[in-house]
Amino acid sequence: MSRLLRLSESLLKDAIERGLIEINLYDMRQWAHDKHNTMDDRPFGGGPGMVLKVDRVVPCVEEVQAFSEIPGRVVMTTPQGRLLTQRVVEELAREERLIILCGRYEGFDQRVVDILRPDEISIGDYVLNGGEVAAEVIIDSVMRLIPGVLGDENSAVVDSFSSGNRLLEEDQYTRPREYRGLSVPEILLSGDHGLVEKWREHNRKVKTFARRPELLDGETSED
Ligand code: ADE
Repeated sequence: MSRLLRLSESLLKDAIERGLIEINLYDMRQWAHDKHNTMDDRPFGGGPGMVLKVDRVVPCVEEVQAFSEIPGRVVMTTPQGRLLTQRVVEELAREERLIILCGRYEGFDQRVVDILRPDEISIGDYVLNGGEVAAEVIIDSVMRLIPGVLGDENSAVVDSFSSGNRLLEEDQYTRPREYRGLSVPEILLSGDHGLVEKWREHNRKVKTFARRPELLDGETSED
């Protein structure tokens, strides 16, 4: 839980204080009413690991949903989910309320998915110990699209990967003009805005071609 509290830092803290977003944390253990607050159990059929219990998770989510008139979209962090891309982030940012369900080490009983029909989301093809990190990534990427959260409204629009923008960002420089023999490209010092824009566009394309050519084809894993 303590890691999630880091969320209250900086931009997010500011957005919460300004009433732009509200975040509530719930510990699913509160819905485990036995003596040991058991949340998981051994898998039927055997095998390693533990499984999060359906009769703990479902009542927890349903109760949290009922705290508001808007039930909200239930998101489950799982390496088996659809990949989180900027397009998915934009989709989530349009929701009034999100309920993010995080697993820890173990998976959920399949009936949690069958009953709640969550939007299963993976933040990448690797396995984390806990879904909290994935939840932080989702919160961080979604909240910056909420109007007013970023100081400059435009900064999210021109980001790499925002809808309609399939190019990586151009190289950036600031003073000093020269450092350890490395100079800032002359054009950026020319004061000619037309030339500067041309250079930036070229730089974005070259960089994208070298690093992420599939973005230029419009072929991404989200398509
Ligand atoms: N939980 C464990 N690994 C994950 C991942 N890659 N994405 C989302 N949730 C996860």
